Amino acid sequence: MKRTKIVELLNTDHPMNDVVVKGWVRTRRDAKGFSFIELNDGSCLKNLQVVASEAIAGYDRLKELNTGAAAAVTGRLIPSRGGGQAWEIQAERVEVIGSVDDDYPLQKKRHSDEFLRTIAHLRPRTNKYGAAFRIRSHLAYAVHTFFRERGFTYIHAPILTGSDCEGAGEMFHVTALDLNNIPRKDGKIDYSADFFGKEASLTVSGQLSAEMFALALGDVYTFGPTFRAENSNTSRHVAEFWMVEPEMAFCDLAGNMALGQELIQYLIRYLLNHAAEDIDLFARFVDKGLRACLDGILASDFVRLPYTEAVEILTSAKRKFEHEPAYGRDLQSEHERYITEEHFKKPVIIHDYPREIKPFYMRVNDDGRTVAAMDVLVPGIGEIIGGSQREERLEVLTARMDEMGLRREDYWWYIDSRRYGSVPHSGFGMGFERVMMLMTGIRNIRDVLPFPRTPGGIEF
Ligand code: 4AD
Ligand code: MG
Repeated sequence: MKRTKIVELLNTDHPMNDVVVKGWVRTRRDAKGFSFIELNDGSCLKNLQVVASEAIAGYDRLKELNTGAAAAVTGRLIPSRGGGQAWEIQAERVEVIGSVDDDYPLQKKRHSDEFLRTIAHLRPRTNKYGAAFRIRSHLAYAVHTFFRERGFTYIHAPILTGSDCEGAGEMFHVTALDLNNIPRKDGKIDYSADFFGKEASLTVSGQLSAEMFALALGDVYTFGPTFRAENSNTSRHVAEFWMVEPEMAFCDLAGNMALGQELIQYLIRYLLNHAAEDIDLFARFVDKGLRACLDGILASDFVRLPYTEAVEILTSAKRKFEHEPAYGRDLQSEHERYITEEHFKKPVIIHDYPREIKPFYMRVNDDGRTVAAMDVLVPGIGEIIGGSQREERLEVLTARMDEMGLRREDYWWYIDSRRYGSVPHSGFGMGFERVMMLMTGIRNIRDVLPFPRTPGGIEF
């Protein structure tokens, strides 16, 4: 007989005979003549209560069904006689699929996030992490529906790359060379002997690829893994994360900012409609202010704030920052959070940053000092989106590359796009994990990735 998922049984409106459920035991309680098993199969947050009388087939092995064991139950779905749930299974047969060793670390008590990180292979079996990863799946799907509904084409940008999009040099090198016997020429590593015949890395962003496709297909987006070897052990950075990167031809910075706001609001609305039960767990047990925060973002028009004004707000703030804010310096996360959480108390888009602190591809504004950059900041997280209008003018772009010490020949194909039908275009990158943090109230990025990669940590 085919198994039925628990989510389906709990949402039914009628009793059923001959159902088969399979899952993992959350708890078992034995009473006189009966056992009660709470079974969870991951299809939803709730468990299914199984009532097994001692007369049924397999009852003698029920004592093996301790927390964590896997079982198959055949029986009748009936209205529950006990309180707390609408339906329960009256078991006719119970089978042990996989018993559990005595040292199973997930017992009924609440475990700390720090402890659960040390058993990342088991934590999806807890309510909280099960819910988080169902939400993550819905969120990924929602990203695609958002762009589909707007006629964007999904592009798979390569993960192995020969160029550093952000120019920050925070790349993981990829090589097939024998590290114990590295070929050298003139004292330097001879990459011509390597797999690709030149230096290669894991991508930090799909943007440069996306731009080439936007200049052919109009509106495109990428959604894939990106990698950064920045050694910052913060609660918002990981070495491997997923980025959503729309890129739009014939679009300026204002259009780019509008899309960023629309995307974030769409994702919140989608999750409230499609993952309400899981979101509710976070609103009750993880962050009591979560619903108010999400509702607030839905109801807000995001503030548009020039960088210069952001610096003025920060320098006149009655508050001591660890890093002193000043024009020309990049904003630190403490600054971003002050602006969005305390000053405006809603999402803020900071735009037009000084050119010195931004990458080569951003469009230089008419003032010559700033570029058409934008960062979207949200309460609780800080930066969630970073993007810009791109420099479409050949001479300005190449001059800027020279100024930043980038070798034109490394980017010849990118430069080509500015010679063959160049058009104004814009795009941004949204950190998928940062969105997960926003949606769940989880405040450590390590807890929204199945197996997080951080400096010194690649256990699983
Ligand atoms: O601001 P970033 O560096 O922008 C870019 O990479 C652009 N090329 C994107 C584009 O215009 N297509 O990164 C974009 C977003 C950040 O706002 C942040 O949400 C996330 O990616 N991000 C990280 N998330 C987790 N861990 C890290 N180490 C991250 N670095 C950036
Ligand atoms: Mg950024």
